[in-house]
Amino acid sequence: MKKQLHDIFQGFSKLSREERLQALLDVGALQVSDVDYLSKGGLRDTTLGEKFIENVIGYFQVPLGVATNFRIDGKDYAIPMAVEETSIVAAASKTAKWIRESGSISTEVVGSDIIGQIQLAKVQDYNIFEKQLLAQKNYLIEISNREVAFGLVRRGGGVRNITVRRIARGDGTDMAVVHVMMDPCDAMGANIMNQVCEYLKEPIEQFTGEKVTMCILSNLVDTKITRATVHIADIDPVLAEKIAEASLFAQQDPYRAATNNKGVLNGIDPILVATGNDWRAVEAGIHAYAARDGQYRSITRWVRDGKGLTGIFEAPLIVGTVGGVTTLHPTAMMCMKMLGTTSANELSRVIAAVGLVQNLGALKALTTVGIEGHMKLHTKNLALGAGAEEREIPAVQKKLEEILAIRKRISLSNAIDVLKELRSSSIQKS
Ligand code: MEV
Repeated sequence: MKKQLHDIFQGFSKLSREERLQALLDVGALQVSDVDYLSKGGLRDTTLGEKFIENVIGYFQVPLGVATNFRIDGKDYAIPMAVEETSIVAAASKTAKWIRESGSISTEVVGSDIIGQIQLAKVQDYNIFEKQLLAQKNYLIEISNREVAFGLVRRGGGVRNITVRRIARGDGTDMAVVHVMMDPCDAMGANIMNQVCEYLKEPIEQFTGEKVTMCILSNLVDTKITRATVHIADIDPVLAEKIAEASLFAQQDPYRAATNNKGVLNGIDPILVATGNDWRAVEAGIHAYAARDGQYRSITRWVRDGKGLTGIFEAPLIVGTVGGVTTLHPTAMMCMKMLGTTSANELSRVIAAVGLVQNLGALKALTTVGIEGHMKLHTKNLALGAGAEEREIPAVQKKLEEILAIRKRISLSNAIDVLKELRSSSIQKS
């Protein structure tokens, strides 16, 4: 019988890099050409880089790992994560395993439209402007779809609505902001939205006699929200209580909310990077949404529910699967294939799920073993930072773990001392 994706995840972290690649090849998550590409060190030719940005001098390499054990909405995934921080991939995989064994992950995307903004900094009379603009609304939608967003219309998307907002300037006069709502289908939609807004500038000025100041999309896409829910059916009530309390802390206190959300983004950003998506846009959207009621809050919530625990992530998470770096960068293209998502909405759902699972892993660790668990995985970095050679690393790590267990703290200076000691004792022996 053909091996399934989940079959290879048992003991995946213990395999060598070559064995991991072979395992992914065996289940068809990677192709021979992908293994070859990765084995040769990925993208090296800077020609592509020159197309993306200016003043190129090379590439910045970040480790690419695979988070295992994820079953989301009943489908198994190999999750690509490009990230430098120790323990993120391990914690995601470990927590996903726990959920796989004792719970479930379900996701949905609510809404379809992204938002573009056209600012008119100083309107004579806001009420008149609003009336004039809304009288032309259907026409403006029609010409945007006909002249600019026709490709999206063909794919079932396009401009859907136009609304107007009044924003007080603070000096007794008003600013008007036109919102353009557009379904970008599988694109992230920034470029096409910016072009639609720019195109509408002239007709808006003609119809209203007012002056447009600037046009740009908004990253606060509260019209398209991705929701992920994790449910653990049966959990130690003490642990569930601790996680719920940690969650309340992040809901009510912006200082904790910032760190909680950083932990969620530990799961989100690495997939955005690996799939060539604009992580700054997603970050901006998530943070703005987290502060939507005037106080910055957690974008996840965990509550006890009977014998179980339920967690929800809810925020805009706008990604694309067509256009941009996603379909140009060979590593991003390979990661997209490995992930096997077939639409932007599916990709967004998977990313939200990983963010929520990462958050659960962090809250579980923080309320039980504390940061010690994280530091344990950090010992290798400390050993490397101290200058340990590959063959010296296991011994330095072992000693650092012993120090951690006793003192509950370790630092780079511990690693330097340990390495010095190790080297002097091996000189004495020889
Ligand atoms: C560290 O990268 C992430 C955590 O700080 C997240 C959290 O505090 O929830 C551990």
